[in-house]
Amino acid sequence: MDPLKDKFVPIGEILQGGHTGKNVKIRGWVYRQRTSGGLAFVVIRDSSGVVQCAVKKDAVGEDAWKAATEIFLESSIMLEGKVREDKRAPGGFEISGTHAQLISKGEAFPIAKDQSVEFLLDVRHLWLRSQKLSQIMKFRDYTVRCMRDFLFEKGFFESSPPIITKSACEGGSTLFEMDYFGEKAYLSQSGQLYSEALIAGLEKVFILAPSFRAEPSRTVKHLAEYWHLEPEMAFYNQKMNMELQEDMMVNLCHRLAKEQEELLTALGRNPKDLLAIKAPFERLDYGKAIEMLQAKDFKIEFGQDVGADEEFELTKDKSQPVFLCNHAKEFKAFYMREDPNKPGTVLSADLLAPHGHGELIGGSERIWEYDELMMRMKEQKMNPKDYGWYIDLRKYGSVPHSGFGLGVERLVKWLLNLDHIRDCIPFPRTINRAYP
Ligand code: 4AD
Ligand code: MG
Repeated sequence: MDPLKDKFVPIGEILQGGHTGKNVKIRGWVYRQRTSGGLAFVVIRDSSGVVQCAVKKDAVGEDAWKAATEIFLESSIMLEGKVREDKRAPGGFEISGTHAQLISKGEAFPIAKDQSVEFLLDVRHLWLRSQKLSQIMKFRDYTVRCMRDFLFEKGFFESSPPIITKSACEGGSTLFEMDYFGEKAYLSQSGQLYSEALIAGLEKVFILAPSFRAEPSRTVKHLAEYWHLEPEMAFYNQKMNMELQEDMMVNLCHRLAKEQEELLTALGRNPKDLLAIKAPFERLDYGKAIEMLQAKDFKIEFGQDVGADEEFELTKDKSQPVFLCNHAKEFKAFYMREDPNKPGTVLSADLLAPHGHGELIGGSERIWEYDELMMRMKEQKMNPKDYGWYIDLRKYGSVPHSGFGLGVERLVKWLLNLDHIRDCIPFPRTINRAYP
């Protein structure tokens, strides 16, 4: 057998019954192996499924018997045989092997049962083969696909922001600084400022790129590098912005519940919970939230940011996401437009996930007029020289516009009800880890 030239059947097709009674060739990795006397069971996995293969010593040649027995977990292997239905086999099918051949035997696989979280993170490059992580990575892919589909259908163009930048978007405290040919530059915290430039040509644009945050704390919700979906829309006010987010979330949850029922169930999430997500989401005014929190003895004043404990309090009993709106302007980003009907607050909304999973989306209507932007930058003691190009956008045919940023891993963490954000990205970067 030749792993590149022969015709191989995806294991998933076998499990659907499509090849019963037929001779097939499969290729993949050894998931389990057990030999008793002259009978070897090799369980083989590929990206589409796992199937048990039975190999009889006296029915195959010496090489094939060796390939079925003298192997390690995760050795790569090809096998040929006849598919039969077998209720006792996991998945309901078994292949009676007539030939087996190793692609690469390799060495003893270092991951056994019950290993520590830290060890599994050290061997992340191998642990990614596990059923659980493979399933989460597939689910993450479907999640991103659904959101892309949704935005394309709404007339958006996808574009790409720079990753190296001189313009801080979300304040100085979480910037990763770098040496750029002898000058100071940063890894991007958000592509928003650049998508604001793109809307004058494209009107509705989204970017999906990594964002970097030097988050100083160790939490289950923060990564130092995460994937950020950022739509930006010309001629949208904050109301339209929030309705778009709602629409995208409901569409996503329903599509995943219907199309990925099996994956959701395998990962312990009831698809019905996602099917129950419905618009409109509650709009909770920031000022009201502060009063509610004070009534529960939280030490928080109007004008202070809502922390993790407060977020948990506000969402612990909710089954639907909640928009926390109209934040006090002093702690929000410089680009958010002041609400003309509620001076002192901005046209902002953070979409909070149920049960304390945290902020899924941060969005706002942007300041689009030159004078207002200059005034706000002065209030926030920012140097307009650092943002010359961004200010320019308000000089040449500026229009009202809004947008939002969604953390892909935060979203997946909530959708799958996972304990920790690190399992929502293949190679997590956190305060104490940038390896492997
Ligand atoms: O609320 P943030 O900081 O907003 C922005 O960056 C805006 N410029 C977005 C925009 O309007 N285009 O970040 C947006 C989202 C958060 O709601 C959260 O989901 C995610 O990005 N996020 C993180 N995810 C993982 N790890 C971190 N350290 C994150 N920081 C933010
Ligand atoms: Mg935010």
